[in-house]
Amino acid sequence: MRIGILGSGLMGGKLGTLFARAGHDVVFSYSRERSKLEGLAREAGRGARAGTPREAAQDAELLLLAVHWSRVDDVLAQAGDISGRILVTCSLPMNADDTGLVVAHTSSGAEALAKKARGARVVSAFGTVPSEVFFAVYEARDGERRPSLVYSGDDEEAKAEVATLIRDIGFDPVDAGPLAIARYSEPFTLLMGRLAYEGDDGPALAYRIERYEERS
Ligand SMILES: NC(=O)c1ccc[n+]([C@@H]2O[C@H](COP(=O)([O-])OP(=O)(O)OC[C@H]3O[C@@H](n4cnc5c(N)ncnc54)[C@H](OP(=O)(O)O)[C@@H]3O)[C@@H](O)[C@H]2O)c1
Repeated sequence: MRIGILGSGLMGGKLGTLFARAGHDVVFSYSRERSKLEGLAREAGRGARAGTPREAAQDAELLLLAVHWSRVDDVLAQAGDISGRILVTCSLPMNADDTGLVVAHTSSGAEALAKKARGARVVSAFGTVPSEVFFAVYEARDGERRPSLVYSGDDEEAKAEVATLIRDIGFDPVDAGPLAIARYSEPFTLLMGRLAYEGDDGPALAYRIERYEERS
């Protein structure tokens, strides 16, 4: 797949690198330092390069949006017309000082994005995972158990492409339903992050749903 990365920080940098290592063509874009994008492309290896958001969007089949919520309008304006493209968002709709959500309850960042980027096929994915775990999950991808990663969206074809990408980087994709499910996954992600990183000695979180086989 040809993938454009809009925002090449902790999330975009790591995910773009893994997409390239999994065999996709990747363009890293949107950093205040061009040299950072070039360094990421070098590290990611064959199939990766640095570019502007416009260049990242130009031939991309799929775009990853990985910027702070306050930068969304700017990066979309720089990317230009992205109608028809799959737009995967991991961006949470956080306020300026990252203390709360600016869209919640009756909508979500993913749904607000779908209104901003009219015509793009928005899928919410990757945002439920802290960036720190991506490389370790990728390294362990041939092991017996893969961690689940939920995604949601309204376009079934776009979701199928994103599920492939999720699988490529070592996770087991779980279709959580329509894009509106992001109303629940976005605040849940924030809650988990808050608890895990609370103070210097946050709790070790376990969240598991057991499956019971029906006894006949
Ligand atoms: N980090 C996580 O673990 C995590 C987990 C779940 C969801 N998310 C969400 O993912 C999104 C990206 O998070 P992140 O941690 O990857 O952010 P980040 O490391 O700060 O990366 C943001 C990217 O936007 C770029 N950018 C370009 N112009 C900018 C400007 N004027 N001001 C600020 N940034 C500018 C940054 O460039 P520079 O290279 O110049 O900094 C960087 O490439 C956020 O919406 C966040 O809520 C993050």
